[in-house]
Amino acid sequence: MAFFRKGADIFGLDIGSSSVKALQLREAGGSYRLSALGTASLPPDAIADGSIKDAPTVVEAIRSSVSKSGIKCTETAIAISGRELIIKKVQIPEVPAKEVGDVVQLEAEHHIPFAIDEVFLDYHTVGQHGGVMDLILVAVKKSKVLEYASVVSEAGFTPSIVDVDGFALANQFELNFPEERGEAVALIDIGASTMKTNVVRGGATIFARDIPFGGNNYTQAIAQQLKIPFEQAEAAKLGRDVGVRWEAVVPALEAVSRELSLEVQRTFDYFASTAESERIGRIVLAGGCSLLPGLNDYLASNWGIPVELARPFARVEIDPAYGDEVNTAGPALAVAVGLGLRRVGDKGK
Ligand SMILES: Nc1ncnc2c1ncn2[C@@H]1O[C@H](COP(=O)(O)OP(=O)(O)OP(=O)(O)O)[C@@H](O)[C@H]1O
Ligand SMILES: [Mg+2]
Repeated sequence: MAFFRKGADIFGLDIGSSSVKALQLREAGGSYRLSALGTASLPPDAIADGSIKDAPTVVEAIRSSVSKSGIKCTETAIAISGRELIIKKVQIPEVPAKEVGDVVQLEAEHHIPFAIDEVFLDYHTVGQHGGVMDLILVAVKKSKVLEYASVVSEAGFTPSIVDVDGFALANQFELNFPEERGEAVALIDIGASTMKTNVVRGGATIFARDIPFGGNNYTQAIAQQLKIPFEQAEAAKLGRDVGVRWEAVVPALEAVSRELSLEVQRTFDYFASTAESERIGRIVLAGGCSLLPGLNDYLASNWGIPVELARPFARVEIDPAYGDEVNTAGPALAVAVGLGLRRVGDKGK
């Protein structure tokens, strides 16, 4: 029917430092169905220290993930993470809604370590009380957005939406657990190189922070302790048979898990210093590194609160063709699911 424009032809593209995940969600009658999914891995040096070092390899991985998935549209939602992303809770005096943008623009200068004309700014209103407004301010370097947008364009797609990993994570959580209303929940995506923390309450982000720490820290520790190459250490970490006994790997895993726990502790301390009296009730882990055997139990015993694994497809219908992939990768697809939910013109998180 030529008169009806088919809406929502956009897909989620999570360009992680270890793999690209392309995923499309179709909406019908208020529920979602996973209609396409494809992933392609990246060598460790293609994206390092939060920047794209080898653009042609990343372009190829984007093309490969999309072509494996069978996605036919070209518009996509991507996301940025890392240190050049500043997410801060700020307070401004109460002003009419149409003036908030201008006030944020002025205020932002005091809160971000970059020149104001070098960044894209966005904000979300979290609350309003006693003549002040609480906002979550998001600033990202324009150069970072362009860096990611250009590999996407180069691969032949249009980056219509540029989101933030941590917000996509929250978007996904809101879809799958909409009844979460009371306590603050810390969502933590531990990827290969970056840990994204997003504390949500009642469907809104109240704190977010990215830390350069992830699965690569484990792999590097194994490689160093056992004096083996990174690739072999990575395979050993995943439990593959590469001539390394699991018991030999465990001391490195334990040492890095202790470090990881300290990193999260620092983030929570920082959160506690910004939020009046908020207690985090539980933690939901996502990202490939959350699949490390025993990590959730270890963190739960350290912090004394429940630590669960994300279930990004809890309320998404899955074509049996994707059953195995979704079961194995599960929590690693959380950000991709959050991006797959985005539509041009929606409000985002
Ligand atoms: N079963 C598993 N056990 C332990 N670690 C795993 C497992 N599966 C994946 N990982 C690790 O998870 C990491 C990849 O996760 P993910 O795909 O979420 O990262 P990414 O999105 O590519 O990276 P980032 O978001 O940090 O840029 C790798 O370090 C990988 O070794
Ligand atoms: Mg990731």
